[in-house]
Amino acid sequence: MSRLIVVSNRVSVDKGRGATGAQGGLAVAMNGALRQHGGIWFGWSGEEVEHFTGQLTLARADGFTTATIDLEPQDVEEYYNGYANRTLWPLFHYRIDLAEYENEFGRGYERVNEQFANSLIPLVEADDLVWVQDYHFLPLGERLRAHGLTNRIGLFLHIPWPPTRLLVSLPFHERLVEAMLHYDVIGFQSVEWLESFLHYCRKELNAEVDEDSGTVRLGDRTATARAFPIGIDHKEFMALGETGTARRAQERVTGSARNRTVVIGVDRLDYSKGLPERIDALERLFATQDDMVNRLLYVQIAPPSREDVRSYQEIRATLEQKTGQFNGAHSDVDLVPIRYVNRGFGRAELFGFYRAAKIGLVTPIRDGMNLVAKEYVAAQDPEDPGVLILSRFAGAAEQLTDALLVNPLNHEEVTRALWTALHMPLEERKARWSALNAVVRDRDVIGWAEDFIATLRG
Ligand code: ADP
Ligand code: F6P
Repeated sequence: MSRLIVVSNRVSVDKGRGATGAQGGLAVAMNGALRQHGGIWFGWSGEEVEHFTGQLTLARADGFTTATIDLEPQDVEEYYNGYANRTLWPLFHYRIDLAEYENEFGRGYERVNEQFANSLIPLVEADDLVWVQDYHFLPLGERLRAHGLTNRIGLFLHIPWPPTRLLVSLPFHERLVEAMLHYDVIGFQSVEWLESFLHYCRKELNAEVDEDSGTVRLGDRTATARAFPIGIDHKEFMALGETGTARRAQERVTGSARNRTVVIGVDRLDYSKGLPERIDALERLFATQDDMVNRLLYVQIAPPSREDVRSYQEIRATLEQKTGQFNGAHSDVDLVPIRYVNRGFGRAELFGFYRAAKIGLVTPIRDGMNLVAKEYVAAQDPEDPGVLILSRFAGAAEQLTDALLVNPLNHEEVTRALWTALHMPLEERKARWSALNAVVRDRDVIGWAEDFIATLRG
């Protein structure tokens, strides 16, 4: 059987029950897929070194090998903080107001893609499948081809693909997308992102596009684009739910809630997650309904992310200010309505927190998929499940249609959904949860990886 080589910017090996931190959906998914399939996970170590050497650090993980390289500080600044997180991330999340277009960022991005190609080539054997992850490496396939690699190479994008009208604001957008057509398979989280990609290829590149098969032809290149909605490692997550750690975590929240209904949010502290907007919706709820401080407790877990980037420092400051103001206005001497926690937790603990919460509030302004929504569903008690309030702008909304779907920018709608969730009869909660849980259980990360790998194998 051919080996699998996964490439991603972050290589974050899950240490099982003790794992903590804001590792994000990609790391959680790749741990699940590689544990099942085996192979090599190649990427940046997260460390900096004065002069780039390309030297690999190899380590054995749970059924697979990790191979990492260190990057120079200037590369980290221009490629990771710069082009990836100040240019592509905001643009691809529809925030062109935050997107910065600096030539050095683009040059750093191309340089690091070339360094990755150089370091990866010696690792690849004849039949290996190379599976590249996310927006950090859109041109890596083309770089690998330039070095003569003829293996099957795929790309999966974990974030949204923007509408053509937004993407054309990116300088050299044609070059970037043309480079992507050197991949054999290009995967997206949802049909919406796939359609935007195909639209761009037809309209801006004049490529020959077959919408039904997702085939894109340009010159002598042919790529297949398809939606592969990612899932969680359902089996592993349910096993974590059986642990004492999960039960104690649930008890910590339930016990300290003092009979209030717990609403939970778990997100990397990112402006795409709609965190200040949630507080606006709560503000409306508390302003229009009596005695909410005795009825509702909102727990927001938000570990800081990408702290060297100004827009992330700003969203953190905004959130802190809003939370402080809200609590100042609505607390009682012995009751605080928002618990805002800036740290990571183990996944077993997260399970317990989700289970303790009768409402899961997942309202990103834009999100590739959102695995937290799926984890919340999986963690519910089948006999007394909570209600998922989900943004219609998350990729997950295409699959989780039995959630209360909301426009996160419409505070009134979110407030109404919170009210509906607070009063939803058990029968309806059970019916909605059964439908949601079937999707989360049956479309897990193992099936997702198998599907992508089978398509890549051709
Ligand atoms: P993103 O990839 O943008 O961060 P997702 O919702 O798809 O968003 O994935 C986030 C993943 O990171 C989830 O699996 C979630 O459990 C995990 N995560 C988020 N916050 C924390 C935290 N505080 N502690 C541990 N894991 C977290
Ligand atoms: O899942 C989306 C994603 O952007 C991943 O690509 C990334 O690894 C994760 O979120 C967390 O972001 P970062 O690696 O920049 O901390």
